[in-house]
Amino acid sequence: MALRNKPSWELLAEPDLSKVPVEELEYDALIVGGGMAACGTAFEIGKWMPAGSKVCLVDKACLERSGAVAQGLSAINTYIGENPVANYVRMVRGDLMGVVREDLIFDLGRFVDDSVHLFEEWGLPIWKKKGDEGKPLTEGGQPVRTGKWQIMINGESYKCIVAEAAKNALDEMGYDLHERVFIVKLLLDANKPNTIAGAVGFSARENKVCVYKCKTMMVAAGGAVNIFRPRTTDEGKGRAWYPIWNAGSTYTMCMQVGAEMTMMENRFTPSRFKDGYGPVGAWFLLFKATLANSEGVNFAATDRAKEELAKYPPYGQQPVTPTCLRNHLILIECKEGRGPVFMDTAAALNKFLDDKRAEGMNEKDLKKYWKELESEAWEDFLDMSVGQAGLWASMNVEPEKVGSEIMPTEPYMLGSHSGCCGIWVSGPNEDWVPDDYKWGYNRMTTVNGLFSSGDGVGASGHKFSSGSHAEGRMAAKAMAKYVMDNADFAPALKQSADELKAEVYKPVVTYNEHHMWTTDDMINPNYIRPRHMMERLMKYTDEYGGGWSPYYMTNGKLLEIAMTHLRLLTEDSEKMAASGLHELIRAWEMVHRIWCVEDHLRHIQFREESRYPGFYYRGDFNVTSDTDMDEGGWKCFVNSKYDPETGEWSTFKKKLHKIIPD
Ligand code: ADX
Repeated sequence: MALRNKPSWELLAEPDLSKVPVEELEYDALIVGGGMAACGTAFEIGKWMPAGSKVCLVDKACLERSGAVAQGLSAINTYIGENPVANYVRMVRGDLMGVVREDLIFDLGRFVDDSVHLFEEWGLPIWKKKGDEGKPLTEGGQPVRTGKWQIMINGESYKCIVAEAAKNALDEMGYDLHERVFIVKLLLDANKPNTIAGAVGFSARENKVCVYKCKTMMVAAGGAVNIFRPRTTDEGKGRAWYPIWNAGSTYTMCMQVGAEMTMMENRFTPSRFKDGYGPVGAWFLLFKATLANSEGVNFAATDRAKEELAKYPPYGQQPVTPTCLRNHLILIECKEGRGPVFMDTAAALNKFLDDKRAEGMNEKDLKKYWKELESEAWEDFLDMSVGQAGLWASMNVEPEKVGSEIMPTEPYMLGSHSGCCGIWVSGPNEDWVPDDYKWGYNRMTTVNGLFSSGDGVGASGHKFSSGSHAEGRMAAKAMAKYVMDNADFAPALKQSADELKAEVYKPVVTYNEHHMWTTDDMINPNYIRPRHMMERLMKYTDEYGGGWSPYYMTNGKLLEIAMTHLRLLTEDSEKMAASGLHELIRAWEMVHRIWCVEDHLRHIQFREESRYPGFYYRGDFNVTSDTDMDEGGWKCFVNSKYDPETGEWSTFKKKLHKIIPD
């Protein structure tokens, strides 16, 4: 036989499964994930758990730089401060087109500032107004607000700071931290119906499978990225707006054990600096920049835009246009031939200088002021989106002279930023919360003992980094109560450790059995590699599921075709092959991606309207009349549930309660 034409380092050291050890571990509480929400849970849980409890946090990466905040941030987008909490609920409700869980949002709004105060205590530099420099928020220091809710930070090391506090808290309690362990699936109890009992995963660094048993679990492993074709191509494909390592694990793993999902039709297609995916919030809110079309017109301020927004009452007429409708206006410009759309950075920066000049600032001070302004503009990118700063530098962009293109990205699924898909969880057990919103333990899913927070919790967006941390902490308290209330519960698993190992390592076995039969081991009649699965998935979701290439448009027929493709992909995923431990992660991430995006499209199929124009459109409902949104028929939640016993899905409407008056 011909020599194999492939590098030997791709091979696993131990393809023989009998030599792959299984570690069986038992905890009272297991925290899956390592981002802001999971760090919040890790920080808080020890204060409430019964003495002598065992707790472990499992992160597929390294806590110091994992999750959505890994790269850092230039702002904290939720700080309530002087605002009434009820106004926070009104803002989130207005931005997310009315369909939100007001109990969860109000609850979060009450506690989020406490997390921000902790971040500052732990060393996060928060910008203060002149005269208040060095004065902590808790002592009345006034933050530099951009919008009503956002405050500016020097946040390159934001995640490191929050992770350090989480690690210290785990350490102090004698709890465990398992980094670089990827959780593949959750495990239900063998005896008690609809009750979480554990999870199985594997180490990304050594040949080892980990089987965890636990009484309660937090799953906060982020949202989903790389489910739709990104705008980036080939060498640039590793760049997306949201972190590419968020693979929908939270949604998939929880839905697989029967957790009810909510608003999975919601997605976020943020308008970002084109190609670099740089953030726009600081440009809009801090620098007061506006968008211009190819004719140089600020189209959002035209009568044409006002008429368009009036088609979506009451949402389009709010003082701040909802995020999806802002996208909608951009897309109209592009579709009608007035693209591209530019962020008018030059006008915004120069206006600051002109204002100072008018105030009588001398040329020397103006120069100094300009330097500060320029460094703020660059720092906004350097803090959280280094690639965008790199792109500007390499393209010789001088933002004071030229604008930069803005474009909505490919769709992402998330529940903590300006999106709201996720899991249907219990609200706080308080008398103002409607009965069908609460079932005992705050942030518990419909599976006993299984909790979520951050991107995992649906119908309550605009938590951002601080809110995710706060929500993780709130859930921690409820998890401890659950453990105390169920002190005699002894989790038992349905599958043996060896069965679980065989399932987890199956892609490795598939690779080792077949890779010798082709000279290019990416291509093989007996298997498919995760990279190719991803390309297929992106093609189907983009073309049929309303990705960016058809301008986010889909319809019933297109969705039907998408679902057929996804079903075949799921069948093919049984044949995925992994040549090493990193590719084994990629393989399981693909499974997680396929499930969550399938539920996403199932929800879009079910909701017979376009609730989020600018994020996606159902072309087959009312596109010719004034509006494609149906307030009468669809101002409700869409929920879905997978039954792990029968393998059947159900998708259904759920009643919406308005708690806070207008
Ligand atoms: S980031 O996460 O990449 O920084 P972004 O730059 O959009 O996101 O900033 C997000 C924050 O700015 C959110 O609070 C969002 O609601 C707000 N924001 C962004 N653009 C606007 C705008 N044009 N009007 C009002 N608020 C905005």
